[in-house]
Amino acid sequence: MTRSILVTSALPYANGAIHLGHLLEHIQTDIWVRFQKLCGNRCIYVCADDTHGTGTMLNAEQAGLAPEALIEAMREEHIRDFAGFGIEYDNYHSTHSEENRALSELIFARLKDQGLIHTEEVAQLHDPERRMFLADRFVKGECPRCGAADQYGDNCDACGATYDATELGNPRSLVSSAKPLVKRSEHYFFDLPPFTEMLQDWTNSSAVQPEVSNKLAEWLDGGLKSWDISRDAPYFGFLIPGTEDKYFYVWMDAPIGYMASFKHLADRRESLDFDAFWNAGAEANTELHHFIGKDIVNFHHLFWPAVLEAAGFRKPTRIHTHGFITVDGVKMSKSRGTFIKASTYLEHLNPECLRYYYATKLNGTIDDYDINLEDFVQRVNSDLVGKVVNIASRCAGIINNQFDGELAASLEDEALWRQFADTRAQMADWYEAGQVSRVMREVVALADLANQYITKHAPWKLVKQADRRGQAQAVCSQGLNLFRILAIYLTPALPGMCKAAADFLGARPFAWADLGQPLLGAKINPYQPLFTRMQKKDVDNLVEASKEAPEADGAAAANGADEAVSIEDFNKIKLKVARVAAAAPVADADKLLRLTLDTGDGQRQVLAGISSAYRPEDLADRLVVVVANLAPRKMRFGVSEGMVLAAGPGGEDIFLLSPDSGAKPGMDVR
Ligand code: 2FM
Ligand code: ZN
Repeated sequence: MTRSILVTSALPYANGAIHLGHLLEHIQTDIWVRFQKLCGNRCIYVCADDTHGTGTMLNAEQAGLAPEALIEAMREEHIRDFAGFGIEYDNYHSTHSEENRALSELIFARLKDQGLIHTEEVAQLHDPERRMFLADRFVKGECPRCGAADQYGDNCDACGATYDATELGNPRSLVSSAKPLVKRSEHYFFDLPPFTEMLQDWTNSSAVQPEVSNKLAEWLDGGLKSWDISRDAPYFGFLIPGTEDKYFYVWMDAPIGYMASFKHLADRRESLDFDAFWNAGAEANTELHHFIGKDIVNFHHLFWPAVLEAAGFRKPTRIHTHGFITVDGVKMSKSRGTFIKASTYLEHLNPECLRYYYATKLNGTIDDYDINLEDFVQRVNSDLVGKVVNIASRCAGIINNQFDGELAASLEDEALWRQFADTRAQMADWYEAGQVSRVMREVVALADLANQYITKHAPWKLVKQADRRGQAQAVCSQGLNLFRILAIYLTPALPGMCKAAADFLGARPFAWADLGQPLLGAKINPYQPLFTRMQKKDVDNLVEASKEAPEADGAAAANGADEAVSIEDFNKIKLKVARVAAAAPVADADKLLRLTLDTGDGQRQVLAGISSAYRPEDLADRLVVVVANLAPRKMRFGVSEGMVLAAGPGGEDIFLLSPDSGAKPGMDVR
């Protein structure tokens, strides 16, 4: 039976360029959608830019543009970037659209009618100069737990504590540098608790991946709270009906943007009926699939289904959640050149290389994926060029040059062909479950078999013997039929290469159903190389072109870090060589390591925020430079008696300063 499926990827924020992280998700979604279409299902893929919020407002102001102009330019850029990677949406809309406004208002009205909206006063930091409330990322101050300076309004980088922005010591607004004051205002809340039971059932259904259900159970068991869905003016968004200065919070109207993008499409495409996909009860006839990252599971698995249910709409059929990516084992980094933007990638490499590499990773879980740049080049060259495409290039010349492009009328080894074709049910199950890496592995294993077959029969020898020419044609036709099967399997992942393969085989675009019969007696077209080898130097150039200096820390400059220090002041700081006697992680503090330092005259403990860059076991016995006369600081995890010196912007880019091996613990550093 033909399925009717609506699919979405998370809506990218309109405040930044598309990068490798977005591409993982959108390529994953596109592969799934293309697989469904290949199978003949009706599958509609929509997306949009997520445009609302304070960030957009401030960015536009800085660029001297109206927010509407900024988001439109961004949207065009995003559409171009995704198209460059062959991602084929049926519609790419914007959350700042009339469809989204109407649907957001409709949903709000329905929630209100059912008594599910209430108002409450909320105390928040307010910038008196800019006359705006400050979201957590727009305010910094001292951590209320450990006293570390320069911490954002929600959690502390140094000790890992989470807190309310109003608890920060000496807060300052990052928008104006003014000292924010606590101010109260009325907010609108959606009552989530009545949906607890429904969510308990739904999050344990087949709609949700088991490892996500477990995470959600922690929240559900802890008790749900009402959800704050409003923000005060000034804000870029939709005004809440009946108010003059309250806006829908960006996360309220963002998922409604999925509906709005579909509505915009349905209004233009007669065959699509909005209600058939969205009304309560639609579950019986149509499917709704969201693809998201694991950082936004609460919005999609708790708030969103509750909002849908409350407003009389259907709930998602399945939410496909993925993990994050790392490059060469660490988070994408601007200074390393591994924060790679889609547009920069496209200047250096074939987009299908990345599609293939991601395809070899995707396994339908929330585990993180590592992009190893050496392995990337090696996989593409060895699997695609060396194995898959090799089958076609070994057989094409003989058929084209010796047999006028005509394939044999029957299969030379029907059992082998059947072996290839018979894996289709298994391949389909893997695609359906998002286990694309297993499909890729199987394709490569089959490609090995096909190449062995060709080598064994050596058609280039047969063709030179007058009485065995027919056999040469049969062997090459068999080879091309095996290649054709693999190309059909690869079509969702590599649509460009596989379209060229279909053209070469003189076929219309492939369909999954084509796996049911071989291509016999047909005419093929001249062979053009289907994939070219990747060059490591192109990857190196891409990384080089992606390198950016770390952003200047505005806060440090504002604190007078640029001012000259007298030599007298500098001499007050006692720097000493120390040896790391022991290093251990600190429970509940992600960023900290507990270092025991040998300073020549004894041992001391230093809590250092370096665990994003160093493993404790790699530090033992290492020489470091320590600020020996820093006043001891009491932190939540103990007292820190000094500070080790390191360079770098933070994250994985932290580099401990270390004296040459001749230095001894206790030596002065000057
Ligand atoms: O996390 C993000 O990038 C959000 N812009 C995703 C929104 S998805 C949906 F809910 F709109
Ligand atoms: Zn802290």
